[in-house]
Amino acid sequence: MLHRQARIQRGPVRDVAAAGPSPLRLEWPGRAWVPRARRVRAAQGAVVDEAGDARARLVHGDALDVVHALEGEGLGGRVDLVYIDPPFASQAAYVHEARLDGPADGRVLRARAYDDRWAGEGVGTYLDMLAPRIEALAGLLARTGTIWVHVDWRASYLVRSLLDEVLGRDAFVNEIVWRRAPNLGRQAASHQFGRTLDTLVVYGGDRATLAPPTRLERIEPKSVRRDAQGRPFIAAPRGDYTDESVSRLDAEGRIHRTASGKVYVKYFLVEDGSGALCRERRVDALWTDVPPLRHAAPAERTGFPTQKPRALLDRIVACASPPDGLVVDAFGGSGTTGESAHALGRRFVLGDESPLAIATARARLLRAGIDVSVERCGRERHADGDPTTATPQVRIHPGKDVRVELIEPRDPLAWAIDVASGGSGPFRRAWHSERTPGVRARPVERVAQLEGAPGRLAVRVWYDDGRAATWTEDAR
Ligand SMILES: C[S@@+](CC[C@H](N)C(=O)[O-])C[C@H]1O[C@@H](n2cnc3c(N)ncnc32)[C@H](O)[C@@H]1O
Repeated sequence: MLHRQARIQRGPVRDVAAAGPSPLRLEWPGRAWVPRARRVRAAQGAVVDEAGDARARLVHGDALDVVHALEGEGLGGRVDLVYIDPPFASQAAYVHEARLDGPADGRVLRARAYDDRWAGEGVGTYLDMLAPRIEALAGLLARTGTIWVHVDWRASYLVRSLLDEVLGRDAFVNEIVWRRAPNLGRQAASHQFGRTLDTLVVYGGDRATLAPPTRLERIEPKSVRRDAQGRPFIAAPRGDYTDESVSRLDAEGRIHRTASGKVYVKYFLVEDGSGALCRERRVDALWTDVPPLRHAAPAERTGFPTQKPRALLDRIVACASPPDGLVVDAFGGSGTTGESAHALGRRFVLGDESPLAIATARARLLRAGIDVSVERCGRERHADGDPTTATPQVRIHPGKDVRVELIEPRDPLAWAIDVASGGSGPFRRAWHSERTPGVRARPVERVAQLEGAPGRLAVRVWYDDGRAATWTEDAR
């Protein structure tokens, strides 16, 4: 466990607005951001589109609007973990690829996911977007909380400067380097060292602690020794252990002395799943053991560009938030953070301004069995055209049990039926079907069988480009 109390001199994160000016200030052409002059914007709550479990929330809106809505709900200073994977200033426009239903004929539907292109030279407009959002998100943190900003070489140095300015240098916790890809192909041939790394910049409140996990490291059989009880161990130089610590370790039977009296520390070994002897090592800030997404099972890959692996978020959520803690990711993309948070028993709020991201995350979270609510806040945006142009066609087959058939669209991302509110108020899923991604995508079921004869029905359809359209009718 990392304890930082002793070296933190400053006040809690949420009081940062009251702290003195930061000695550091990052300048960029046309800088519009004024830190600590946080305008208290009209803090309206988000509007619920789809009712679900309040422990699992998806909010469609700009990160700044999402934070202001959460502040309005009184969540300022109460968030345990903020993780964001914002645009990296890559000057790329990202496209989502959805494999379509039917035979595995390689059909792919492409839709704009989000834009990471910035006007002019780029860095100034990028920082004008990022700085106020990081500042607002940092304001949500509890004193024990941490903010993790996931970027790469393009922005890591900028994010550290911004966070120094927002929270102060003392709030720095870690700069974690994640090897996200092997050094192959274009990177290996680049006549530079391969840029195969992402950076996680971590800052925290004055009582923030992390609980880094351990990993098993295989030990060469020839290095293994055994103590008097036959327990396997390896011996390592005492390093920076003080005499006091060595005495304590000696009392625990963990000191090995050579014939010449040299002191070594014993590390007892454990067996891994295959019976090989391993040393348990605390993970440090260099993460080489989290494989890239392309090594993950096909079902994990949503087709959303720049999606991060579950294993990465599992590690972050587990080490940086308590059970039942609150996790916020306002650049949520395909919903990786939400899926990890839920699997580890945490509550979460995911935001994203891209309708396609919200649609992808929604489908993914529902597939994972998470009863997610979908809300929106701020200005409605749409990636491709007018969201109102979508008109689903539905046929009702009345009878003792009603059958509902989706005629159009033929290849939706998902569709669902609400029999309770019947289209007035938040949508409540009584039945739903999602397309399952994978090498052979599983198509949505096109006919739903509803028990009894419900009154008013609402059918909602989600499209691959992020649109959602609702159809309502009296089924009697
Ligand atoms: C790198 S992706 C996140 C990927 C995500 N971590 C995952 O595993 O799928 C960045 C996301 O930020 C979103 N985004 C960009 N600008 C935003 C803003 N101002 N407010 C909210 N979301 C934004 C994009 O739509 C995109 O989904």
